[in-house]
Amino acid sequence: MTRTPIAAGNWKMNGTNAEARALCRGLAGIDAIDSVDVVLSPSFTQLPLVRDFWRGANVHIAGQNMHTQPSGAYTGEISPVQLAEVADWVILGHSERRQFFCEDDQALALKLRAAEAHSLTPILCVGESEAERENQRTSAVLTRQVSVALGDSPAPSGLVIAYEPVWAIGTGQAATPDEAQAACAHIRSVLTETLGAETADTVRILYGGSVNPSNIADFMAQPDVDGALVGGASLQADAFLAITQAIADSV
Ligand code: PGA
Repeated sequence: MTRTPIAAGNWKMNGTNAEARALCRGLAGIDAIDSVDVVLSPSFTQLPLVRDFWRGANVHIAGQNMHTQPSGAYTGEISPVQLAEVADWVILGHSERRQFFCEDDQALALKLRAAEAHSLTPILCVGESEAERENQRTSAVLTRQVSVALGDSPAPSGLVIAYEPVWAIGTGQAATPDEAQAACAHIRSVLTETLGAETADTVRILYGGSVNPSNIADFMAQPDVDGALVGGASLQADAFLAITQAIADSV
């Protein structure tokens, strides 16, 4: 099974519209890098301009979160119907959402179903904290996060999972390639149990956490790592271009 690798940039809560436009200009040509799916995830306010900039190009646009309901009295939230007007993918359950906004596995199960219902390709983020790793809880945490979010329903189409150890995010201290491979292989084994081997084999699993142009090739050399979810380095056009090219070169 060959899985097209993914280079996903999570811009988080950064930049003005002018800065988002400048970043897009700096990424010129990224859509011509063959055999990799490029995903850009700006803030909600930047989504329309980023979508317009890349219209017709081979670049996917992702929201960083969304609500489960199509509409209603949920002040400050963005619905899947609204998101689908400006994006085709959505990042769900990023550790910052779990940590600061109380998102739990049950809520993510509903969000995954909502993404499926509105044809948004989900990137479900999972990963253990430093304390959980120290207490040898990594596999148990990943099993729970993946299996509760997926529930008993069929896999959402195009499902992508990002393994992002919390201790590696924004710290400059990436997991080792071996640690990333062990976690991603474990996630694939959980997918095999819940969805069956054939489907599990098609799910793309990304590594995220302090990915940069120098360490990406070692992650891509791992059999169960199918790309990267990049935070800080995705805000620098040259770095994200280099990461994307390295991902393409790994195929
Ligand atoms: P980082 O963030 O690349 O800055 O570590 C990754 C993420 O949060 O998705």
